[in-house]
Amino acid sequence: MSLKEFYQYFRWWMDPRDPRAIERFHSTVRFFESQNLSVDSVLDICSGTGIAGVAAAKAFSASRVTLVDERGEDMRKVSEWMAIADVTSAIMMVEGDALNLPHLVGSHDVAVLWGHTMPHFDPFEAVSLFSGVATVLREGGLFFIEETDRIKRFLYGTAYKDFLVEGGLDEKKLVSLHEGYNLRRGTEKRGYYRLPGFEKVADMELRPWDLASQLALGGIFFRKVELITPEEHGLPGVSSVIIFRGPKGKIAREVYSEFQKSLQVYIK
Ligand SMILES: C[S@@+](CC[C@H](N)C(=O)[O-])C[C@H]1O[C@@H](n2cnc3c(N)ncnc32)[C@H](O)[C@@H]1O
Repeated sequence: MSLKEFYQYFRWWMDPRDPRAIERFHSTVRFFESQNLSVDSVLDICSGTGIAGVAAAKAFSASRVTLVDERGEDMRKVSEWMAIADVTSAIMMVEGDALNLPHLVGSHDVAVLWGHTMPHFDPFEAVSLFSGVATVLREGGLFFIEETDRIKRFLYGTAYKDFLVEGGLDEKKLVSLHEGYNLRRGTEKRGYYRLPGFEKVADMELRPWDLASQLALGGIFFRKVELITPEEHGLPGVSSVIIFRGPKGKIAREVYSEFQKSLQVYIK
C-alpha cells in the first residue's frame, strides 16, 4: 500500500481549509515563537501540506523553506498556508523519501518533523533518518520533533484498540484493525477499511514509538537533547516536542552511509 493511497483515506489535520488544522497551525506558530529564534532556513521533513514548515518560517523569520514529502499533492497546498500566515519565504518542494535526505537537500539551520510522524519509520530507519538530518543541518543547527508517547498511551492508557474508528474523508467512515506484529521491524500491521461495506483500502506497518527511545537515538547524533511536554508548553493542538541541538556531523555521516547500505541486512 503506497503512502499516496493511504493518505487519500486517512485524514490528518493539516489541510489549510480545515478549521482544526488552522487552529493547530496557530498553536504551532506560538510554540516556535516561544523558542526566540531567528534563522535563515527551515527544512520540513515529511511535511504533508507544509503546515509546520510555514509555522516555523513565520516564527523564526526564515527566508527559505524546504518541504520534503513522498506525496506532492498535499505539498502544493503550502501556498495556502503562506497566505494564511502572511509569509513570503522562498519555498522549495522536494518529492522524495525522507530516508534519502542528504541526497535530496542542502544545508539548513533548523529541521522539523511535525505531526506524530515517527510511526512511519521502524527503529533501523529512525537511525538512518536521524543521522540523515544531522548530516544536512549546519553546525549548531536544531531538529524539532512533535510526538506522543505511544507505549505510555497503549500500555497504561486505553488508547490501544484492536478495532479503532479513525477520522476519514467524512468523519467515522474509516476503521482500522490490528492484523499482526512484525517482530523484526517492531511494527504493528493495521488494516484500514471503509464503511459502509467494510472494503479494505490500506495495509500499513506502523511503529508505536515511545519518547525515551527517540531521545536516546537522537543523543547519538546531536550534542543536546530536550523534551518539552504539553503540560510545560500549554498550547492546545501541540504534543510533546523533542529538540535536538548541535548535530555531530562526523558520526552522523558515518552512521548514515552505514545504515543506508545495511538496512536490509538488519531486518532480514
Ligand atoms: C502524519 S503526516 C504529518 C504531516 C505534517 N508534518 C503535519 O504536521 O501535519 C505524515 C507525513 O509523512 C509523509 N511520509 C511518511 N513517510 C515518508 C517518507 N519515508 N518520506 C517522505 N515523506 C513521508 C506522509 O506522506 C505524510 O504527509
